[in-house]
Amino acid sequence: MTMYKTLKDFDFTGKRVIVRVDFNVPLKEGKVDNDKRIRSALPTINYLHEHEAKIILMSHLGRPKGKIVDELRMDPVAERLSELTGKKVTKLDDCVGEDVEKAVKGMAQEEIILLENLRFHAEEKENDDAFAQKLSRLADIYINDAFGAMHRAHASVEAITKHLPSGAGLLVEKELEMLSKVDDPERPFYAILGGLKVSDKIKVIDNLLKKVDKLFIGGAMMCTFGLAKGYEMGKSVIEPDKVGLAKELMKNEKLILPTDTVTGESLTEEAKAETYGFDKVPKDRACLDVGPETVKSWKGLLNDAKTIIWNGPLGLSEVPQFAEGTNEIARFLADSSATIIIGGGDSAAAIDKLGLADKVTHVSTGGGASLEYLEGKTLPGIAALEKG
Ligand code: 3PG
Repeated sequence: MTMYKTLKDFDFTGKRVIVRVDFNVPLKEGKVDNDKRIRSALPTINYLHEHEAKIILMSHLGRPKGKIVDELRMDPVAERLSELTGKKVTKLDDCVGEDVEKAVKGMAQEEIILLENLRFHAEEKENDDAFAQKLSRLADIYINDAFGAMHRAHASVEAITKHLPSGAGLLVEKELEMLSKVDDPERPFYAILGGLKVSDKIKVIDNLLKKVDKLFIGGAMMCTFGLAKGYEMGKSVIEPDKVGLAKELMKNEKLILPTDTVTGESLTEEAKAETYGFDKVPKDRACLDVGPETVKSWKGLLNDAKTIIWNGPLGLSEVPQFAEGTNEIARFLADSSATIIIGGGDSAAAIDKLGLADKVTHVSTGGGASLEYLEGKTLPGIAALEKG
């Protein structure tokens, strides 16, 4: 049961609605390079239009550290949003102040206003209440549809909820509905975790071990576990101070390590890929992917799954000869009839690159936010909506 308001709890007719979205998208040569986050906000934008609201959107873009950075202005986002909605999108040059208030008062019913990058003001990250109040003056209702920013206690996410009637947008609702499947999953329930460091994933491993039937470990962090098992890990990236922890975790029989690994002598495109047993890594090579025998055996073990959550690439997936483990598992998940949930960030990018994102149940738009959710943390943005 949701403890916060959602769109259906409001009468939006003729109201000005300020919507926090996560339009923190990659840019290339002044254009939006991946518009997934913009497309993911469209259901809320369309709903608000259909219910005759006047829509004011606000987001951060990059990390400008409280200063104006021209390359991080919201103009390319406004352009893409206008293409996607077929509506006029007016991008303002600031997000607070007299000019912004004037523009918002004079806005037409069909117009969408997009405010300038919130993080041009240091007060945004400081969760400054006066800044939140200035934002709140622009509207009658506040909607948070920025799932990707829910783990940030920033003014446009947290403090603003004290000043306006507040609720969650459709993307936030959907993300929470999907990610909460890990709390009450259909079983067997498996997790596949990759990524660079044990230290980044330790809380997720801890939390998921309580819930899953098996947990598969790949990515560079598998090497710290390999070392903990007493294997030589050659030139692999390891975290010596996490070996003890890895040893402790491996006492849990749910945890599954690779049996072979694709190795390289360097991390570059020129590196020659060679496969070895996970316990037979040569001194001058680093483990850069899970091996084919591992992929085959994991597919067999994952076959009866009813729910799978995947977070983090299984190898150095940006280099083609070390991407096969990640790609093969992504293809397997796309073909599976189980409920498949993919955490945001690099694993989302990997499945997107293969054109398979539509074949799985859910790909999260939140990198850090989905990770913190899987750690079992209460996200500040959700807590603020609940309080409101
Ligand atoms: C993200 O890309 O994960 C979100 O937009 C949050 O961005 P941040 O890590 O800069 O706060």
